[in-house]
Amino acid sequence: MVGLTQRVMAQIAKVTPPTISKCITQYEIKPVDIKNLRNMRYRINDVRTVLRHCIGKNLQIFKPVMAFYNFKGGVGKTSICFQISSHLAMMGFKVLVVDADPQGHLTTSFGLSNEKEYLTLYDIIENQMSPHDVIQPIFEGLDLVPSNLSLTRIEVSLNELPKREERIKIAFDPLKKEYDFILFDTNPSISHLNRNVIVFSDLLNIIVETQAYSINGLKLLMGDLDRFFHSMVMEKPEIFIIPNLALEKHN
Ligand SMILES: Nc1ncnc2c1ncn2[C@@H]1O[C@H](COP(=O)(O)OP(=O)(O)OP(=O)(O)O)[C@@H](O)[C@H]1O
Ligand SMILES: [Mg+2]
Repeated sequence: MVGLTQRVMAQIAKVTPPTISKCITQYEIKPVDIKNLRNMRYRINDVRTVLRHCIGKNLQIFKPVMAFYNFKGGVGKTSICFQISSHLAMMGFKVLVVDADPQGHLTTSFGLSNEKEYLTLYDIIENQMSPHDVIQPIFEGLDLVPSNLSLTRIEVSLNELPKREERIKIAFDPLKKEYDFILFDTNPSISHLNRNVIVFSDLLNIIVETQAYSINGLKLLMGDLDRFFHSMVMEKPEIFIIPNLALEKHN
C-alpha cells in the first residue's frame, strides 16, 4: 500500500503541516521515495507512528466494539465502515474489522476476493475455528475477517446453537484485549447474525439516508431494537444516527 503525504497527515490529525514535519524529524522517519520532493509519501507504519503521536495517544477509547447497521440496503454502511476502520488504523490504533455481510463488499473493498477463497465468520461460529485462523492482515494496524456467500449458511447454524444471540460475543470477547477497536459491517436484514453483532456491540452506528421515507424506516428500526433489547434483558449499546446521502442514487 502506498503511503500518505505530510499534508494529508496534517488534515487527518487536524494539526498544521509544520507540526507533522517536526514529528517526522523527531522520529527520524524517511519518505518512501524522495524523487517527488513536493509530494513525498511516508509508509503506513510511519504514518501510524506520527498520527498516534499527534492525536491517537490523547484519545480515550471508550467504545471499542461498534457496528454499522440498518436493515435497509444501500445506505452506506460498508462505505462508512471501510473509511472509519482504515482511518482508525492509520491513526495508530490496532483495528479488527469484521465483514458480517455474505455479499462480501467490505472484503472486496479491502482488495480481497469474495469468491470463497477465505474462511469467514461461519468457520468461527459453526466450525469453532479460532478467529486468528480466519483473520487476514490488510495493512499494519488493520486486520479483516473476510466474508463471502458461504456466510449465508450461518443463519441455520445459529438457529440450532444454544445462546444463539451470543455466539459472536463468546468467540470475539478475548480479542478485545488485542485490538483497540473491533468494527462490524452488517448485512441489510433482521438476521440472527445481526442480532449477535448487536449483542456484542458497545456502539451501534445506524446509517440513514437523508430523505423522508428513511425517517419512517428509522422509527420502525428503533422500535424493533427496543423490543430486542427488552427481550434480551441487556444493557442498551450507545446509538449514533449517521445521516448519509448516497449520491449515486440521487444524481
Ligand atoms: N456519501 C456518499 N457519497 C457518494 N456515494 C455514496 C455515499 N455513501 C454511499 N455511497 C455509494 O452508495 C452505494 C451503496 O453504499 P454501500 O455499499 O456502502 O451501502 P450499504 O448500506 O453497505 O449497502 P448494502 O446494504 O447492500 O450492504 C455504493 O455505490 C457507495 O459507493
Ligand atoms: Mg454493505
